Amino acid sequence: MSKKEKYRVDLGVSGGIAAYKAIEVLRLLQKSDCEVRVAMTRHAIEFIQPLTFRALTDAYVLVDDYAPENPDPIAHINFSQNIDLFLIVPATANIIAKFANGIADDFLSSTYLASTAPVLIAPAMNTTMWENAATQRNIEQLKKDGVRFVEPISGELACKTVGTGKLEDVENIVAQALNLLVQSPKSKVQNSKYDDKNFNAKVNAQELETLDFGLWTQDLLGEKILITVGGTREAIDPVRFISNHSSGKMGFAVAKAAEKRGAKVTVIAGATSVEPPENVNVIRAISAEEMHRAVMKELENATVFIGAAAVADYRPVKQAATKIKKNKNILHLELEKTPDILSDVSKIRHDGLLVVGFAAETENVVEYARSKMQKKNLDLIVANDITKNGAGFDSDTNIATILRRGDKEKIELPLMSKREMADIILDEVIKLR
Ligand code: PMT
Repeated sequence: MSKKEKYRVDLGVSGGIAAYKAIEVLRLLQKSDCEVRVAMTRHAIEFIQPLTFRALTDAYVLVDDYAPENPDPIAHINFSQNIDLFLIVPATANIIAKFANGIADDFLSSTYLASTAPVLIAPAMNTTMWENAATQRNIEQLKKDGVRFVEPISGELACKTVGTGKLEDVENIVAQALNLLVQSPKSKVQNSKYDDKNFNAKVNAQELETLDFGLWTQDLLGEKILITVGGTREAIDPVRFISNHSSGKMGFAVAKAAEKRGAKVTVIAGATSVEPPENVNVIRAISAEEMHRAVMKELENATVFIGAAAVADYRPVKQAATKIKKNKNILHLELEKTPDILSDVSKIRHDGLLVVGFAAETENVVEYARSKMQKKNLDLIVANDITKNGAGFDSDTNIATILRRGDKEKIELPLMSKREMADIILDEVIKLR
């Protein structure tokens, strides 16, 4: 698709726990040169604020067309005309039922009736609701009406049960949306490898990356990004060590996002419980000392340094050569400070090097993070409140606040996947250039 010819997509968000994943869908569509406008149901705004979508689209987010602040008096008509795709993520059983039965009692369902664009629905709900005869009947009806579905997958649901009803991976949803768009009359893409009969075939992430949808904007071409990832281990004896809960998910998500956007990425990885992404240079360094040494060696080639690792602040002064025996009731360990990698990077930074830190905090999150940013002379810091559900160590999601040097404003990032957060952090890095 030519960069100038943008596809126009209306993204409808209905009220389910998966509503936050619509942010990631929106951003991947935008990266694929789609112009996206967002409409939400009243229940959706219980899960995520319209302001988030407004900030990301620069456009009014429609919830209620009768709202006095709505700039367009016939929004459901204007919103639904001249679009290339109407995409609903996530779709609840309720919105599916309304669409199937022609009920138009809110903005989203009115838009459905008023639109002639292809419609793609990605449902997410509890397994029993998904399997209910009424839901299945409504889905059958909509399929007869020409609506496409990205079927939900099986997995652990918000209600802690396991079964079908989980929203399909956002990358697959976006792949199917792009697939529909390239088939639309406006499409300039010839000989698409996808046609109607294999529309519902799963597009895996690897395939997606090879498609020329411009999905991965190369806005980090030329950057060499050095990232510390995971937790360090500080040996007490040959068997025991001091460490923390870092899994490496956040740092690897940043590495993956940066690589996809054209950067050359090196990660200095401590102890991690997940696999590193492909096409990234991985150097293992288990203790703070080893990580410090590896970073110093690689630093001169870097244009951006990101400290996502949870580096132990203290290590035993002495490491016992043999296993310490359990013959004392109390064992005293003498600890000393480890080298502060981030501070040292900042101290010797060369021209053009951007330095980004993370802060894992349990109280006064913004205040402590701001003081770390100043003390360590950082350009940007990402502060996680690790006491919040879905934030911090080992989860696939995070909640954070980004602070920038010399800027009193803060950017609040609500619950989202670490992959999505990685892209937003990198957007901020690019703005510093
Ligand atoms: O790996 P996950 O399970 O996905 O979890 C992600 C995370 C919570 C580990 C990550 O998002 C995060 O917050 N990383 C930083 C954790 C931390 O050690 O914060 P801190 O406030 O103690 O350190 C501040 C900054 O200084 C960090 O950038 C840290 O990498 C760096 N530091 C700290 C101590 C030290 N000796 N050397 C350092 O470079």
